[in-house]
Amino acid sequence: MLRFFIFGVLIASTGKPVNGTCNVEMSPPKVMVKFGDSFTANCTSLYSEIAGIGWESTYGGIGLQSGISTLPFKIDVVKDWDIQPICYVTLPDGDQCLEPLPVTVYQIPESVSIAQPLSAGPMVEGKQYHIQCNIVNVAPASLLSVYWHKGDKIISHETFKESAQSPVSKSSILNLTAQRDDDGSQIWCEAKLNLGPGELNHPAMQSKSHEMAVLYPPGFINPEMETVELPDRKNVTLYCNATGNPVPVYSWDVPQAVQEMSKKEDVNKPFLIPFFQLPGNYSCKASNTQGTRIKYFTVIEAPRDRTTLAAIIGVFVALGVLLFIGGALFVTRDGTFSCNQSKYLRGQPSGAV
Ligand SMILES: *[C@@H]1O[C@H](CO)[C@@H](O)[C@H](O)[C@H]1NC(C)=O
Ligand SMILES: *[C@@H]1O[C@H](CO)[C@@H](O)[C@H](O)[C@H]1NC(C)=O
Ligand SMILES: *[C@@H]1O[C@H](CO)[C@@H](O)[C@H](O)[C@H]1NC(C)=O
Ligand SMILES: *[C@@H]1O[C@H](CO)[C@@H](O)[C@H](O)[C@H]1NC(C)=O
Ligand SMILES: *[C@@H]1O[C@H](CO)[C@@H](O)[C@H](O)[C@H]1NC(C)=O
Repeated sequence: MLRFFIFGVLIASTGKPVNGTCNVEMSPPKVMVKFGDSFTANCTSLYSEIAGIGWESTYGGIGLQSGISTLPFKIDVVKDWDIQPICYVTLPDGDQCLEPLPVTVYQIPESVSIAQPLSAGPMVEGKQYHIQCNIVNVAPASLLSVYWHKGDKIISHETFKESAQSPVSKSSILNLTAQRDDDGSQIWCEAKLNLGPGELNHPAMQSKSHEMAVLYPPGFINPEMETVELPDRKNVTLYCNATGNPVPVYSWDVPQAVQEMSKKEDVNKPFLIPFFQLPGNYSCKASNTQGTRIKYFTVIEAPRDRTTLAAIIGVFVALGVLLFIGGALFVTRDGTFSCNQSKYLRGQPSGAV
């Protein structure tokens, strides 16, 4: 629109048709300027001979200058969102050509913030949440990129179609299915203007970082089924450690024999050192508001233990049998008991077996 308008003005003022783009060099080739800042650009004619060179813009141009090949254009305070300066050259034959200078007027957002539901309490594992990032008064929105950060990763990226050059507000919505790993991690959004190559040309603004809280049922750190060997001369410890939010509470189920021999105690602990080291089936229940999980332990005697125990029992049995046979022989041979003998003989075998 503006360009046609300027064409019209030029044609009207010179009466000569405009002859396409110019053979000129723009320095810089394009301008990125912050609203309110100033900028300067040079238009340099590459023709061997010209009648004059000038600038047109909505800010008022610079009339045709002759005798020079480079003409600067300057705006001290950019107060408009749509500036389209055009360099024009009049050739010796009266023809005119035009070269527009691309100018992008930008404004970094007034604010970038995350809206509900992060502040509305903890999330629940498996549920989907729509987290909104509000970017207020940014220009031009067509160059805006929104990045969602979770921990040290970028999990989502959004750009916008927008024709307005002036500031607008935009929202980016992140669909997030809450996972247990998210519990305690930080999330934030970042608005960036892609003004061109180079780090300095990417002004960015970040929202506050929010710590996510995710409720999830207990999950055991170790497998849900474990076979544990009773160690030699040491107490076995059964580990039931589970993660969960809220922190899980534990209860244990131990074999009948162990239960009867131990004092009843509340064992809300993630581990158990059975008072009596007996093989059997143990289980542990981890619960919180989100659910309950059960872990099973099969406690077995170590093979080495069993042979040692068998050997000890074997020796005792053998000893008992020997004494019993000895006693029986003694009794049969003598026929009668003396008081001393009877005490000695009766006591030994029963004590040993
Ligand atoms: C424009 O040209 C003048 C004179 O040659 C020079 O001093 C100035 O740095 C140039 N400006 C730009 C933006 O290239
Ligand atoms: C996010 O969820 C909404 C509502 O369920 C859906 O309309 C939208 O397409 C989703 N967006 C993305 C990027 O998946
Ligand atoms: C095994 O546990 C019992 C009961 O807690 C304790 O009295 C005993 O000292 C422990 N033995 C070893 C070797 O740790
Ligand atoms: C389980 O939790 C207890 C108590 O918090 C801790 O001492 C132990 O090291 C943990 N064990 C494992 C295997 O994580
Ligand atoms: C232990 O559990 C297994 C499998 O559930 C079962 O076959 C076995 O009889 C149980 N042992 C005892 C001593 O209860």
